[in-house]
Amino acid sequence: MITERIRYAPLRDKVVSAEAAAAHIRDGMTIGMSGFTRAGEAKAVPMALAARAREAHARGEPLSICLITGASLGNDLDKQLAEAHVLSRRIPFQSDPALRRAINAGEVMFVDQHLSETVELLRTRQIGPVDVAVIEAVAITEQGGIVPTTSVGNSASFAILAEKVIVEINLSQPTLLEGLHDIYIPTRRPIRHPIPIVAPENRVGLPFIPVDPEKIAAVVVTTKLDSSANVEPPDDDTRAIAGHLIELLKHEVAVGRLSTQLQPLQAGIGTTANAVLHGLIDSPFHNLTMYSEVLQDSTFDLFDAGRLDFASGSSITLSRPKYEAVLPELARYKSRLVLRPQEISNHPEIIRRLGLIAINTALEFDLYGNINSTHVGGTHMMNGIGGSGDFARNAFLSVFITRSVAKEGRISAVVPMVSHVDHTEHDVDIVVTEQGLADLRGLAPRERAALIIRNCAHPDYRDALADYVARATPRGGQTPHLIEEALGWHAALRETGTMRRA
Ligand code: COA
Repeated sequence: MITERIRYAPLRDKVVSAEAAAAHIRDGMTIGMSGFTRAGEAKAVPMALAARAREAHARGEPLSICLITGASLGNDLDKQLAEAHVLSRRIPFQSDPALRRAINAGEVMFVDQHLSETVELLRTRQIGPVDVAVIEAVAITEQGGIVPTTSVGNSASFAILAEKVIVEINLSQPTLLEGLHDIYIPTRRPIRHPIPIVAPENRVGLPFIPVDPEKIAAVVVTTKLDSSANVEPPDDDTRAIAGHLIELLKHEVAVGRLSTQLQPLQAGIGTTANAVLHGLIDSPFHNLTMYSEVLQDSTFDLFDAGRLDFASGSSITLSRPKYEAVLPELARYKSRLVLRPQEISNHPEIIRRLGLIAINTALEFDLYGNINSTHVGGTHMMNGIGGSGDFARNAFLSVFITRSVAKEGRISAVVPMVSHVDHTEHDVDIVVTEQGLADLRGLAPRERAALIIRNCAHPDYRDALADYVARATPRGGQTPHLIEEALGWHAALRETGTMRRA
């Protein structure tokens, strides 16, 4: 089995324990690890690193690193690393409650970054350099190329740019994954060529990460599975959101702006976005394609329903039942799938060229269409911006979805002014809640406010929002506000536990 998986023979002599491999990681280093939304992360080496850090700290020795990944890690690795106090800096995304606590306590410096940008910054030495890359792989090819597993993320550039590479060969990841990846690395400036992708199904790179095998310092053999996705099944709210969006898309077809094939779809992470894609199963649209980042359960449900022709992403993140159903059957889906580096799956050039319909999730949005996807109450990090900004700014149609209220109605998702801006009103075409949809295209801020209150706000908050607008508008301005009151709803939440007026 090992000879099949490590086909470049000299590297078979480099197989060591996770502890021995982790010894290459020293205090103060910058480490690039594979892993993208709980898929394809290196598993054994970070666990060994966390254990070593606990021992080192008990002896009073320092051991902390800057950890850069594709996106969030599975198998509680962000939790283990945060609790072992081994993370001094974390880039570019996370979604773990323990790490979130450490970030919000100021213990870990979190750099919340557009996911397409990280390797551009590394390549041009604006951050980094990467000392050690730790990459999960299904195999090492005859030439020493690394074949990633269920995600590509930033792994290719980490391996290419790092001083040393550690490869984790995961025997539980099926060899059928080989051939799924398309590794394209943009040429260096000053001569940067156009990326030759003109349709989601185009393959323009190699099926493995090309590295100098001399750089591979250690190989570790593991068997731990990816964690399952933590998305909830669709409910009445998310079904209603999907319903409103599908009505809009039908209208776009009726007026001739879209065909029934739509345009390539991107859907963000989480329960709400997954549910919206699910809604397309019972829609009149067909021969759909995806040019997205994370391929969730809904991608495979759309394949099985005969709705989807092709899906391009950077990772496959599935619930356990879907993982068990899909992975052994990968041969059935393989010709309709490709996994790319995240700078390519999220590249502004391609997003604009293909004309995507981008569907991402907000925590809250305001009367004028500004979106907060990351900061609870304006201060506390939830997960990060992820790829939502890459897609929202450059899409053909940029849609943001959310439930109209959170926390049993104590929080309105429609607020006078967002407490943190991730996506400005200029990047947002459509906002949708279970209450309805507001089409903001071509509307000035004053026109947007009325529509958003009528169509999207929860009935419990409509009057208070209308009252705010009525008092702000006479003061004038392109975007009327009561500046002294604009964040009053968030202040009330902090002081009384609810945005509801007494
Ligand atoms: N204020 C405070 N908390 C809020 C809130 C608000 N305005 N809106 C939602 N929440 C809470 C929910 O109550 C829930 O809390 P819980 O985990 O304690 O139950 C949590 O946020 C998640 O909300 P949910 O409705 O389940 O949505 P989701 O799973 O679809 O996730 C985001 C929503 C915004 C957190 C998630 O989509 C995200 O991190 N997005 C940013 C990154 C991104 O968009 N990437 C896309 C490219 S892949």
